[in-house]
Amino acid sequence: MTTTDDMQADIGEILLTEGQIQARVAELGAQVSADYAGRKLTLVSVLKGSLPFMADLMRSITLPLRIDLMEVSSYGGATTESSGLVRILKDLSSSIEGEDVLICEDIIDTGLTLNYLVRYLGGKKPHSLRICTLLDKPARRLVEIPVDYTGFTIPDQFVVGYGLDYGEHYRNLRFVGVLKPEVYADPG
Ligand code: IMP
Ligand code: MG
Repeated sequence: MTTTDDMQADIGEILLTEGQIQARVAELGAQVSADYAGRKLTLVSVLKGSLPFMADLMRSITLPLRIDLMEVSSYGGATTESSGLVRILKDLSSSIEGEDVLICEDIIDTGLTLNYLVRYLGGKKPHSLRICTLLDKPARRLVEIPVDYTGFTIPDQFVVGYGLDYGEHYRNLRFVGVLKPEVYADPG
């Protein structure tokens, strides 16, 4: 049986501790609360990686808000490279017309996923559309993305934990860490 301890053994370096993440998310929540005071805030989370981030961010925002969930896929299976193809696996459940929409993302890498989402959601006539990402990996950007809120800018390393996966695993780690290279090499 794979346990959390086994997963931790696959991590070479802890990039962001649970405490660092929680402190930064609280700051982002305070900033969003101040910026959106008196407005109709809707958080749109991009599943599955953004689930822990959205759950923590929404509880650190002191305004009334709505949430909605989308699921998109840009990677095929257990790979660390973007295919550039974005598929909608789950669409919004309510209209966002006239709403102030804040997209919550786990990480911006090439930017291809968000580039697609911004155009898609923008077509639904929100009053405003902004982006909040926990992690930004600018080194690999292929398209320019206007990011309004960034938790942490990180180097060009493949990271897991706090929602981020490799082959759908490691999402439940409380910290963000770098996988040991031998984990990619091992097909099992
Ligand atoms: P982009 O389209 O290249 O910007 O990639 C965005 C998506 O790729 C994210 O929402 C993640 O699901 C995935 N991704 C990119 N970099 C990483 C990483 O370092 N670890 C885990 N997933 C990643
Ligand atoms: Mg992923």
